[in-house]
Amino acid sequence: VRFSEHVLDQLRSLHTSSLHRSLLTLDGPTGATVDIGGRTYIQLASNDYLSLAHHPEIVAAVAAGASRWGTGAGASRLITGHQRVHEAAERSLADLIHQDAALLFPTGYMANVGAIQALVGRGDLILSDVLNHASLIDGCRLSGAKVLVYPHRDVAAARALLETHRKDHRAALLVTDAIFSMDATAAPLAELRALTDAHDAGLLVDEAHALGVLGPNGAGLLAELGLRADVVIGTLGKALGLMGAFAGGSPEVVDLLLNRARSFVFATGISPAIAAAVPTAVALVRDGDDRRRALLDATLTLSRGLLDRGYDVRPGRGPILPVWIGEATEALVLSQRLWERGVVARAIRPPTVPPGTARLRVVPTASSSPELVQRALNAFP
Ligand SMILES: Cc1ncc(COP(=O)(O)O)c(C=O)c1O
Repeated sequence: VRFSEHVLDQLRSLHTSSLHRSLLTLDGPTGATVDIGGRTYIQLASNDYLSLAHHPEIVAAVAAGASRWGTGAGASRLITGHQRVHEAAERSLADLIHQDAALLFPTGYMANVGAIQALVGRGDLILSDVLNHASLIDGCRLSGAKVLVYPHRDVAAARALLETHRKDHRAALLVTDAIFSMDATAAPLAELRALTDAHDAGLLVDEAHALGVLGPNGAGLLAELGLRADVVIGTLGKALGLMGAFAGGSPEVVDLLLNRARSFVFATGISPAIAAAVPTAVALVRDGDDRRRALLDATLTLSRGLLDRGYDVRPGRGPILPVWIGEATEALVLSQRLWERGVVARAIRPPTVPPGTARLRVVPTASSSPELVQRALNAFP
């Protein structure tokens, strides 16, 4: 088949299975409302949990950072792309999550792929929750380690796998989301910590959807439970309102990541303008109890309202409200109805979620006012 035919075939198959996606262009910043094509919509679709993506202090810090340190790092951090602002950002992030050291990555996707690949390889063993984020899955595949997938949150199954397979491998690492991004469920971190300790395995926890939202001062789910993981991944593009991510751990873990993570070694350092704003974003997260309270209030009102209207809402921890639909086409129809009524809530379809489990992922932000939440609820048919 000719290449151009192949591309058209692939697109046709996405369309016929209702899996084709396209970009939605916003005419301004993201927020509790967004302007699109001359109309203002209520937004229930971002991960800007604390409404920091357009906060004046962070905007000013990025602008000042760009002016003082430049917009581009100009090289890999290991060449000449490491500046004082990167160092300061890493210090403030490590402190936020109570770890000794941290390493910035340009995105969370890159942090997960790079960290796993750097820490384990051929001859090692990975245990991975079946609902882990795609970036964790890709990191597992890239590592070359033996990957065993356990059913969602099933500690007994993970234990059985370790009991059978641990002895045949050199190192072992269990990887899990803290809060699962499409299900809002929380990983059983205390049990997983005990399990990994009992089997001399490391524990990597991706706090993408918990950082800033859960735990004392927004330090995450591990902090809330008083636990320590060997490697913690945090993202800056969600509650922190920036972009990028970091891996936290001991100085030795960070040293190994810095040497081995291909997505760190072979990538230009994160922009110094972004790095410069990290301490400001961290301070806002730490002092963000009012924002966390507003977010929780909005989440509870939305979740109760949707249940009252007969929707199959399955809340977990935090602001993510999965509204279960089933078929991708039906999820699209609901999303379209809401759109017509001025609400942006995106249909989540395969391959992001397993076939037959399409859903709407409804997420308020700290600045989704009671009035906005009520208007959003009224838009649900
Ligand atoms: C659990 C989880 N980890 C990692 C990522 C990737 O982070 P980033 O968007 O910074 O690449 C995401 C989503 O984007 C996520 O939901």
